[in-house]
Amino acid sequence: MPYYVTTPIYYVNAEPHLGHAYTTIAADVLARHMRQRGEEVFFLTGTDEHGEPVTLAAEKLGITPRELGDRNVVHFKELAARLHVTNDFFIRTTDPEHYAVVERVVQGVHDNGHVYEGTYEGWYCPLCADFKTDSELEEGNRCPIHKIVLEREKEDNWFFRLSAFQGPLERLYADRPDFVIPQNRYNEALSFIQQGLQDLSLSRPRLKWGVPVPWDRDQVIYVWIDALLNYYSALSYAREGEDLTDRFWPADVHLIGKDILKFHAVIWPALLMAAGIEVPRRVTIHGFLLLGEHKMSKSLGNVIDPIQVVDLYGSDALRFYVLREVRFGQDGEVSPEAFERRYTSELANEYGNLSSRTLAMIERYRGGVVPEADPPKELADEFDGLAEAVKTRLGEVDLTNALDEIWRRVKLLNRYVQDEQPWQLAKDEAQAERLDTVLYGLAEGLRVVSVLLQPFMPESAERLLAALGRDDLSLETARFGALPGGARCGKLGQLFPKVEAEAPAA
Ligand code: MSP
Repeated sequence: MPYYVTTPIYYVNAEPHLGHAYTTIAADVLARHMRQRGEEVFFLTGTDEHGEPVTLAAEKLGITPRELGDRNVVHFKELAARLHVTNDFFIRTTDPEHYAVVERVVQGVHDNGHVYEGTYEGWYCPLCADFKTDSELEEGNRCPIHKIVLEREKEDNWFFRLSAFQGPLERLYADRPDFVIPQNRYNEALSFIQQGLQDLSLSRPRLKWGVPVPWDRDQVIYVWIDALLNYYSALSYAREGEDLTDRFWPADVHLIGKDILKFHAVIWPALLMAAGIEVPRRVTIHGFLLLGEHKMSKSLGNVIDPIQVVDLYGSDALRFYVLREVRFGQDGEVSPEAFERRYTSELANEYGNLSSRTLAMIERYRGGVVPEADPPKELADEFDGLAEAVKTRLGEVDLTNALDEIWRRVKLLNRYVQDEQPWQLAKDEAQAERLDTVLYGLAEGLRVVSVLLQPFMPESAERLLAALGRDDLSLETARFGALPGGARCGKLGQLFPKVEAEAPAA
């Protein structure tokens, strides 16, 4: 089955920080897991290069928005590569092919009678690129997200008749209770719809940086309409000479942060309906990574540089940390100290040491070959249904509980080795069969957790599997006892070595 997962496209007004890495890591876990299931996956990420957020940042630096985009896109691509992200395409909204699709779709919305000329008067946040209602503003007419004082804008532009889609959107939400997850975000989006929708500016007259309105070249298409269409346009040109739209559209999951819920859960489906295009299957919302009490954000000036963490600790540690520390869907604090704690206690000790000890014992007691034995019942019972549980959780985009299911088994294996004390069994010839069982159980348990951990921590999981003499990553093999003993083990350096450096600075 085809599976299409996307991240938001990131503004190129600044270099990426850990918050951007978070969504991309989560999407990569889903993409890798779906490939393990044998699905045909298309995974899209990219950059949003138009509109005020980029124009204003470029002005400050005295360069053109295109130059700023060209400069910063390199960092977003580098981040994806350093995190071992397996996106199938990287879209830039400055791609000429994207322009062509935006113009075509917006013309279609116009021709279908959903566009009219009007005057916008109200608040606008140039950093959100969003029109704000009176009730959304904080004291002193401040943007609730960026905290800057907003100006009232008055301008003539083209409007999208969003209000006409209130009924269709309500029906969509009634028919598809999982269109938006988690539930609290579904409720939030639905209540926004039910309060009544105002028509939306489809174009901006004063900005020059964007996709021109096809029937009025003095205006550019509002950056959010242009940006949302990336999910659809990319499929038409990601593969040279091939249009993937029929195969992968509608998207299975748009993964986004809670700040852009309204755009994805309200405007996006309405726009698609207006254009006569199928709406996506699901929009999944995660919370914010916080530093202290505040959202990590370049405009607030409190960020962690993910590349710095990767340089020190490796990308797996970072991928693991953000998904383990913060409950997916909720806001959560991250800090260098908490990172170090988890790195040491969970990665280096529980997974890393267990792996090296197990391999060392197989080497010392059994000449480096995993013994043939029946799966020990006490472990088999505990592993029963694990792969199914992970599959269900990840199908629901519940990354936290999927990882927790797996980690409970890592802890269990640690308890098992303590309880069984294979180094004592090795001293007694009469216990040889028991030792075979224990060593097989440990190797098999580590193999199963590593197959399941591979989407989360690809490098380490694959290194360990290679050392265990098994490299099959398919989900079918993630059953305890699925593979017999007999594999010849190889060398494994330290998976998570002690880092003699300061924690990454906030
Ligand atoms: N360009 C728009 C999105 C267009 S999608 C059609 C945009 N870009 S952004 O760069 O400002 O932010 C994009 C996403 O980055 C957020 O929705 C979220 O997924 C992620 N995050 C940015 N900061 C974050 C945190 N501090 N915490 C978690 N995720 C955050 O909005």
